[in-house]
Amino acid sequence: MSEGKGSPLQETTSKVADIQLGLQHDLDALKTQLSPRAVEDLKVKYLGRKGQVTALMETLKSLPKEEKPAAGKIINELRQKLEGELEIWRQKAEDHALEQSLTQHKLDISLPVQTTTGQGSLHPVTLMRRVLLAEFRRLGFTVYDGPEVDLDFYNFSALNFKDDHPARDMQDTFFIGERAKTILRTHTSNIQIHAMMVEQAPLRIVAPGRTYRCDSDLTHTPMFHQIEGFVVDEGIDMGDMKGVIDRFLKAVFGQDLATRLRPSFFPFVEPGAEFDLQCVACRGKGCRICKQTGWLELGGLGMIHPNVFEAVGYDSDRYTGFAFGFGIDRIAMLRYGLADLRQLFEGNQQFLGQFPIHP
Ligand code: DAH
Repeated sequence: MSEGKGSPLQETTSKVADIQLGLQHDLDALKTQLSPRAVEDLKVKYLGRKGQVTALMETLKSLPKEEKPAAGKIINELRQKLEGELEIWRQKAEDHALEQSLTQHKLDISLPVQTTTGQGSLHPVTLMRRVLLAEFRRLGFTVYDGPEVDLDFYNFSALNFKDDHPARDMQDTFFIGERAKTILRTHTSNIQIHAMMVEQAPLRIVAPGRTYRCDSDLTHTPMFHQIEGFVVDEGIDMGDMKGVIDRFLKAVFGQDLATRLRPSFFPFVEPGAEFDLQCVACRGKGCRICKQTGWLELGGLGMIHPNVFEAVGYDSDRYTGFAFGFGIDRIAMLRYGLADLRQLFEGNQQFLGQFPIHP
């Protein structure tokens, strides 16, 4: 508040006091309506081009020369003080605004996420393969891999297939390259040869993979999946073989389903057999799925033929072993009740999306 007409310096001092008082008043009001915008308005009111401090600065011009420095100093101090003060309030206003927007647009992390759109699922064959391999790992098997495009030697000759064996026939095997020596493997048994040529016994291996045969109907596709397994050590016998297959099937399909071996022939095993599981649908009574037999044929197995050991350079007097092989797709078909195996490979999203994300 002005103290009336005094010296020009006194006048300036009292205007400075007025401005300070006015600002104090404005700041008190600001506290109830704090916003960056309101602080900006105050800045304009006091420090802007037409602001009060700027106007006071203008009065310097008309002051007597000897009073100008002192008055100028007072006004400059005022300006600096106001600038500092308003900067602090600008910061406060921004913090306040941020806080407000955070409480208004609060993110509720306890809300359930949308799971119905855009989430992929595992292919039924992948699910099945994971379940089966997990069980073999539990039994102490190592998972091994081998080539899908292979030489006749690994797929047939070394596995004791004679040159005129019908499995080599054009109708079954896809041949690639010159003189039909390169083929798409017809089974994962080729991995027996690859593994034994590199690794030393004892071995306990399972090998999953794609296999190819020129065949297509409700239960056959030109590409399908198998798992091959083999165990080689001193003193391995048929009891070990039956024990592993029985434990494995029971672990995957349930303890109450019976398993059985039926004599059969495969060139690379002697004796050879097929292994069956009591029908998962009718539990042995006989139904459409097991063709009224009560049994499902799952795969082949047998004691590794001495000729195979010879082909890979293993001592067949010292080592014995058993091997088995079966189709993953067929097991997926039984487990998920599929009528047509070809569905597995048509890439229909609606069909594939029905399977669980985890086994
Ligand atoms: N490789 C045979 C097939 O694809 C399955 C098979 C039978 C594998 C007997 C084996 C075995 O290891 O001992 O039909």
